[in-house]
Amino acid sequence: MSLEPCTLVVFGATGNLARNKLLPSLYHLEEAGRLPDGLAIIGYGRREWDDDAWRADVRETLAPRVRGGLDEAVWERLSARLRFVGGDLGEPAGYTELARRLDRETDLSPNLLFYMAINPDQYARVCQALATAGLNTENRGWRRIILEKPFGYDSESAEILENRLHRDFREEQIFRIDHYLGKAMVQNVLVFRFANSLFEPLWNRYYIDHVQITHSEQQGIADRAAFYDGVGALRDMLQSHLLQLLTLVAMEPPPNLEAESLRDEKVKVLKSIRSIPRSAVHAHAFRAQYAGGKVAGEPVAGYTEEAGVPGDSTTETYASLKLYVDNWRWRDVPFYLRTGKRMARNTSQVAIRFRHPPQHLFRQTPIDRLEPNWLLLTIQPQECLSMEVQVKEPGLEMRAANTRLDASYCQTADYQIDAYESLLLDAIEGDRSLFLRYDEIRWAWQVVDPVLKVWSSERDFIHTYPAGSWGPEEDSRLFDQDDQNWRNSVE
Ligand code: BG6
Repeated sequence: MSLEPCTLVVFGATGNLARNKLLPSLYHLEEAGRLPDGLAIIGYGRREWDDDAWRADVRETLAPRVRGGLDEAVWERLSARLRFVGGDLGEPAGYTELARRLDRETDLSPNLLFYMAINPDQYARVCQALATAGLNTENRGWRRIILEKPFGYDSESAEILENRLHRDFREEQIFRIDHYLGKAMVQNVLVFRFANSLFEPLWNRYYIDHVQITHSEQQGIADRAAFYDGVGALRDMLQSHLLQLLTLVAMEPPPNLEAESLRDEKVKVLKSIRSIPRSAVHAHAFRAQYAGGKVAGEPVAGYTEEAGVPGDSTTETYASLKLYVDNWRWRDVPFYLRTGKRMARNTSQVAIRFRHPPQHLFRQTPIDRLEPNWLLLTIQPQECLSMEVQVKEPGLEMRAANTRLDASYCQTADYQIDAYESLLLDAIEGDRSLFLRYDEIRWAWQVVDPVLKVWSSERDFIHTYPAGSWGPEEDSRLFDQDDQNWRNSVE
């Protein structure tokens, strides 16, 4: 694949996302020889830096963050691509300077990709400022913008943002990123479902008891209090990444893999999610906040003791939801979704539990009922695909024992491309299949809006869980059946 040259402008060049994700991804792409010739990277930020000062800062940022340490030859190549423009996000002067450099420096490609690695409440002003500086006009090359989630804070604000963006950019120019869609195992859900005929007949309400989607992290909010405290776990992870995972598990086979076909199918799932009435929010949603505790043996502070978090904050760092997809395939199958910070383990996993066999022949098993079959699609910490099935225990007795069939997908590749690496390449190429269309976002907000409304009216109390635990026990109230509970111990 040969990619066109382009100039990538990173707004928020010294922020958390740029430092932890974008710059390391660009370095790894450089290392793998995947960046197109003629790709330049302009950092845009408030510092009064010249190109060399930014290069020095990027070098320092990358050294501890890249696989195997900084390689001088790779760094030389990457550093030659870096430029810096100093400017405030809200001030026209910086954009005028950006436009001037783009005009003057003839080695900068006129194809412009603007990456908004900034707080979402700044998107509208940056887009407006770009338009005022004439940087949205496709007079020579193309113009694209990449936006990070959350897109708005609820349906209403998302709609306002969307209308605002469309004043200056056309839909084909807008790339709404959900980096989970760039993860190899997430894409593997599609391959697994639609390249095998084995599972499709079972992939429905007649065979599946319920689905669990978990994302748990050991880390806390790090230095992101300013962003996180106004957002919380439901908006940060569940409305976006986890609902996207749900759509991939639940969608019908698309007619082809074109961006619009995939998105059409995902939207159908989101539209079919049963809306949660206000009166039922407590039966469908749970939130909690981490208190002090120990993570991997180390004592850590509670959320309200974190730097920048108000002592009386009731922002949730854990959120869980029970959802139903009301269509022919899924009616009445619960989808349980949960996410939390400062939890026992780093895990992202889709776990699908099949129904029990109708007859219990093997009553001599030590347990009352046989273990049900599980299918486990593990995204992190290791990509893995496995199935739990029953086999006869060795010996004279007819006992069944649980065993694991492993697809040996786990960590086979030497070089696993990071989600941001593949999505950056897609955006440069103009491939939007793994980016979100606005209606996906609108429908995802409709799913969580009722919960957000109720939670925002109940700001005086929040359950807590000790840091380093699997979250609050109280959220077991979400489960429909006594024998349903979170799978916590899986690899
Ligand atoms: C981001 C959230 O979108 O995803 C973070 O804002 C979260 O809070 C992160 O930690 C998790 O992504 P990953 O790729 O590390 O699982």
